[in-house]
Amino acid sequence: MTAAEKTKPVFDFPVLNGKRLLLVIAGGIAAYKSLVLIRRLREQGATVRVILTEGGAQFVTPLAVAALSEDRVYQDLFALTTESEMGHIQLSRAADLVVVAPATADLLAKMAAGLADDLASTALLATDKPVLVAPAMNGQMWAHPATESNMCVLAGRGVRRVGPNTGELACGETGAGRMAEPEEILAAIAAYFDTLTLGSGPLPLSGRRALVTSGPTVEPIDPVRYITNRSSGRQGHAIARALARLGAQTTLVSGPTNEPDPPGVQVIRIETAMQMLAACQGSLPVEIAICAAAVADWRVKGVAGHKLKKDKGELPLLELVENPDILAEISRPGKNRPALVVGFAAETQCVIEHATAKLARKGCDWIVANNVGAGTGTFGGARNTVHILRAQPSGGAIVEDWPELSKVSVGERLAVAVADHFASGATGR
Ligand SMILES: Cc1cc2nc3c(=O)[nH]c(=O)nc-3n(C[C@H](O)[C@H](O)[C@H](O)COP(=O)(O)O)c2cc1C
Repeated sequence: MTAAEKTKPVFDFPVLNGKRLLLVIAGGIAAYKSLVLIRRLREQGATVRVILTEGGAQFVTPLAVAALSEDRVYQDLFALTTESEMGHIQLSRAADLVVVAPATADLLAKMAAGLADDLASTALLATDKPVLVAPAMNGQMWAHPATESNMCVLAGRGVRRVGPNTGELACGETGAGRMAEPEEILAAIAAYFDTLTLGSGPLPLSGRRALVTSGPTVEPIDPVRYITNRSSGRQGHAIARALARLGAQTTLVSGPTNEPDPPGVQVIRIETAMQMLAACQGSLPVEIAICAAAVADWRVKGVAGHKLKKDKGELPLLELVENPDILAEISRPGKNRPALVVGFAAETQCVIEHATAKLARKGCDWIVANNVGAGTGTFGGARNTVHILRAQPSGGAIVEDWPELSKVSVGERLAVAVADHFASGATGR
């Protein structure tokens, strides 16, 4: 893995490249997360122009916002210089999308009422662009009928929303009102632009159900130790996102990863291979199954109920038992067998030969083979060089070599290949 590869952002949304965002930062504790959001948007090639409310400036400094957005910060409705350079109306329209994060109870109320008594509310009233809000506030404020009715009014006017999440709030209470994480807001912004790219016609996979597995599994040794592998979940998550983007009703069964939940995807989080198998079986029937998870081959027999002690030089013996073969289980003929089952073969040598053998052994329809050997940077990296092997009725496989692509692009290309497969009338083996 090169140094540049290591510093590449974890989140990869090519659709954001070149997009212009107007970000309104209002006066809530969560404003600090908006600094991260600016950073993430800039990493994706988007430009970010920021309006900071008077309240917002109590929580983050204009200097920090300016440094991260690499632009001046807009704060005052009546600033003469701003008006002569870029009037508030122009500011509200020179963007592809307006994002309000954090959206305070106060600003949401102003938006719903149509007030325009500062730069943020005036720009929000004057804009002709779609608006996405990320509410953030105390749980009582969020649950208050006034906020509820303001949100209803805004939703009725087409204002989009991401979050809030439920969890620990800055005020020390627990409940709904926590602003969505920057990565979730980023994904929601990308999802909005995705829908524009794909248009409003029927999507190629709409009406179809898909199951994707992703990430590693974690096999406990005792309550504090476990066996796992280096899978990041990037590839599996990118595939789930791409299938959902093409209209498939997608379930993602994932081991622990740092990836954000793909928008529009039902995510089931598991830890062990046994849990992954149960979650997959519970998600059937589906027409498309893509098994991209790096399922641990073995688990520890008889997991200790207490922490194993390091006793006088005696090494504990770990007896391993084989985990279920999830890909083979899903591929097994029967009424629940998906029409198309795709497996992954992570190989370190003789990639095509081993993947061809795996295709026959597992009974799946396609294998996505990749080299995960040392120095390829595939595990944990952002890029992937894959070969698609399609089983032939006569035996053997047709191999298609794809160039090195980002994992996001591999996901998108694979989803298109799946859509083409169904469009051609094929129904699997
Ligand atoms: C410490 C502190 C934290 C606050 N956090 C929030 C918050 O998370 N959400 C919210 O809606 N209001 C919060 N408020 C109240 C807003 O700052 C206040 O309503 C302000 O008028 C909002 O102005 P703005 O919407 O123009 O930014 C907080 C106030 C203080 C003093």
